[in-house]
Amino acid sequence: MERTHKCGQLRPEHIGQQVALCGWVARRRDLGGMIFLDLRDRWGTVQVVFYPDSPGYAAADAVRSEYVVAVRGTVKAREEGNVNPRLATGAVEVAGAEMEVLNTATLPPFYITDDVRVDENLRLRYRYLDLRRPVMQANLMLRSRVAAIIRNFLLEREFIEVETPILTRSTPEGARDFLVPSRLSPGQFYALPQSPQLLKQLLMVAGLERYFQLARCFRDEDLRSDRQPEFTQVDIEVSFMGAGEFLAMMEDMVRRIFAEVKGAALPKPFPRLSWKAAMEKYGTDKPDLRFAMEITDISSLAAGSQFKVFADAVAAGGSVQGLRATAAFSRKELDQLAQVVAPHGAKGLAWMAVEEEGVRSPIAKFFAPEQIDAIVQAFAARPGDVLLFVADADTFGVALPALGALREHLGRRLGLYSEDQFCPCWVVDFPLLEFDQEEGRYVAAHHPFTAPVPEDVERLAADPASVRAQAYDLVINGWEVAGGSARIHTGEVQQAVFQAIGIDAETARSQFGFFLEALAAGAPPHRGIAFGFDRLVALLAGESSIRNVIAFPKTTSGADLMTAAPSLVDPAQLKELKIRPE
Ligand code: AMO
Ligand code: AMP
Repeated sequence: MERTHKCGQLRPEHIGQQVALCGWVARRRDLGGMIFLDLRDRWGTVQVVFYPDSPGYAAADAVRSEYVVAVRGTVKAREEGNVNPRLATGAVEVAGAEMEVLNTATLPPFYITDDVRVDENLRLRYRYLDLRRPVMQANLMLRSRVAAIIRNFLLEREFIEVETPILTRSTPEGARDFLVPSRLSPGQFYALPQSPQLLKQLLMVAGLERYFQLARCFRDEDLRSDRQPEFTQVDIEVSFMGAGEFLAMMEDMVRRIFAEVKGAALPKPFPRLSWKAAMEKYGTDKPDLRFAMEITDISSLAAGSQFKVFADAVAAGGSVQGLRATAAFSRKELDQLAQVVAPHGAKGLAWMAVEEEGVRSPIAKFFAPEQIDAIVQAFAARPGDVLLFVADADTFGVALPALGALREHLGRRLGLYSEDQFCPCWVVDFPLLEFDQEEGRYVAAHHPFTAPVPEDVERLAADPASVRAQAYDLVINGWEVAGGSARIHTGEVQQAVFQAIGIDAETARSQFGFFLEALAAGAPPHRGIAFGFDRLVALLAGESSIRNVIAFPKTTSGADLMTAAPSLVDPAQLKELKIRPE
């Protein structure tokens, strides 16, 4: 039987036509001697009815869920009462004549429908069945479509797509490497790329000027809903282009994606926030701008209070930060809110409820009435508001991140935003370096090829913490969707940065000698960015986990439950690699 139509395409305009369909039996019902089949293919589902006098009746009677069948029949209008408005094909059905079973199927371990609630591990174990669900098919189609929009956009602007190797050397992006042992050089290893960072910079040295790649990246790090050990970046690099032109171009691309996929008009230009302002206002470097609720610093008001916790934090060089929420919380709820800030190191959560009669708070007694008035004014608080405070000696490490987490929690809990709002922003002026307590030295906040802000370079040795990076992150709805920077393009600056992070000249030469040579061989000024493609697609699909937009993802413990990878290997294979089993 030659397929003539797709199941999901049938509409009233096809009424009267003879059609041949192929697909999977999504559901089979026997209603008073008539067999109803929901037949599903990638384009959707249509109802097929076999009457007892139809030649295909016996075959239709014998099929079960997920059998693969071909059906010939005639498209008919459904009777008025039987129209199904939830189905795109719901105005019609196919009166089945012939039926051919192309393959049988074992009983699936879960129902293959969108609203099915099953353990994700079971879905991952039988991913090929999970991917039959229409919502998962829609996600993969969306992913393919977004990739096409991106490719078209970049190709129109004379970018060229270049593939870079998977078997390569370590590229430092801050995670652990996955290593691959070399059979031909026993004891030596390839590293899988954490990103194509060095290679794309070398393509700029090579004179390609505009590069992109949908690049697979590998990072051996602890996994979460927005992280996978293997993920995809839209990796981009350009030469001879200033930050203004480059970011405007990237914004145009993002605007085009959201316009085509969601019909959403994103602002032009995207708002920009310095890292410091993002931390101070939202307590995070990835702020969700769908709702306002900004953090207010009341240190100067708190310093003079009798509340020791507040006064001590300020005296220790820290601060007192607060949020205003329009809500009423019970004692129990306030205790729950304290649980939200605790994991970020906050030692407590103080509160003041603003009421018609005045301020109600266990700490009110430590403040003079004018101090209370000044605090209420600082927040422009009105009766019905609650003020929530965290005091800490460490402002950027504890007080602000704790309130940032509380802000996110309150935004969600108080319903301050909706899922179909999209609020992008650039976060800029990141610190170039971060002090790593464990290692006792500065490390690169992004990667060590990020260019410092030129006027800050001279402070690299004396005051490394104050040096800003020419880096930018794109944040949408609280998700870090992309990150990039201007790159160091001279050997001198590269050496100075290596030095600041404790990589001496000898180590630099042995690890990155090839790269330093390239910088000396006529490297143009260049910059770039990489989008987390999985995150971008998840955001567009309205999925909270990137696993739902990846065909074959891994669990949070890094396992592929379907193929059972990672797995033990044959001892002979290890021997060949000169690796001794434990
Ligand atoms: P960065 O490390 O910020 O930059 O990565 C860029 C973007 O990739 C996404 N991302 C991830 N997505 C899923 N799972 C992960 N484990 C994961 N890690 C990162 C994020 C992030 O914004 N070479 C630089 C880019 C550059 O400077 O051009 C880089 O890799 O969305
Ligand atoms: P205490 O004096 O420890 O009984 O705390 C009195 C109130 O202040 C309680 O509501 C605590 O949650 C709160 N609190 C304690 N430490 C802090 C802090 N570092 N920042 C904000 N509030 C705090």
